[in-house]
Amino acid sequence: MDNGLDAWEKNAEFWDEKMGDNSNSFHRDIVRPSVEKLLNINDKDFVLDIACGNGNFSSRMAEQGAEVIAFDYSEKMINLAAKRRQNVLDKVHFYVCDATKYNDLLKLKQKRPFSKAVANMAIMDISEIKPLFKAVYDMLEDNGIFVFATHHPCFTYENEDYFTECINKGIAIEGQPVLQNYYHRSVSDILNTAFECGFVVDGFYETPFSNEKIPIIMTVRLRKK
Ligand SMILES: C[S@@+](CC[C@H](N)C(=O)[O-])C[C@H]1O[C@@H](n2cnc3c(N)ncnc32)[C@H](O)[C@@H]1O
Repeated sequence: MDNGLDAWEKNAEFWDEKMGDNSNSFHRDIVRPSVEKLLNINDKDFVLDIACGNGNFSSRMAEQGAEVIAFDYSEKMINLAAKRRQNVLDKVHFYVCDATKYNDLLKLKQKRPFSKAVANMAIMDISEIKPLFKAVYDMLEDNGIFVFATHHPCFTYENEDYFTECINKGIAIEGQPVLQNYYHRSVSDILNTAFECGFVVDGFYETPFSNEKIPIIMTVRLRKK
């Protein structure tokens, strides 16, 4: 299956410019509030930032006192992230890693388990999620949490068949150089994958654009039991 890397390499510079130092308003106003409520970062946290893009959220967590291992499969994106986040490199360590490769993910494991993991707007960009969910489960401490915000599958699918996994082409930000892949999966597919890996769900939000009544994203907190 096309894992979409080529598009992210081509879009990396544009993405980094648009997200800048402090992210864009979509992230700040729609994504972050629910993620931060469920993640509740503190200065003892050791966090895995999955598909970190230009490191905007990694850097935010570092400013809140957490130590962060951040990764993305786009080498260009990771180079841009490391360049932009010079001021937090003592707290944030960037790696190139593909979230669909279980054995590579386990190489991110450090001497202590992660207390938390986060994936902002990336589950729908990742071609296969079972290896990631399994690796995150294995690298979290007991009772550790994995929070992800992703397109709400019920309200963002494009064809007639909600239940069948498929790839749609789309854009994340207007004007980006090339279309990227979106991997549509039903809510039950996503949650059953998490349950099969041993997680339970203990937090959930659905967030619309302001003044709208249909949610565009869902934010889920999984807990290792
Ligand atoms: C919409 S961006 C979100 C970036 C960041 N989490 C944020 O919120 O700013 C999606 C990111 O997922 C990354 N990505 C997609 N598939 C991936 C994979 N298999 N492994 C690692 N990163 C992946 C892309 O390179 C891109 O940086």
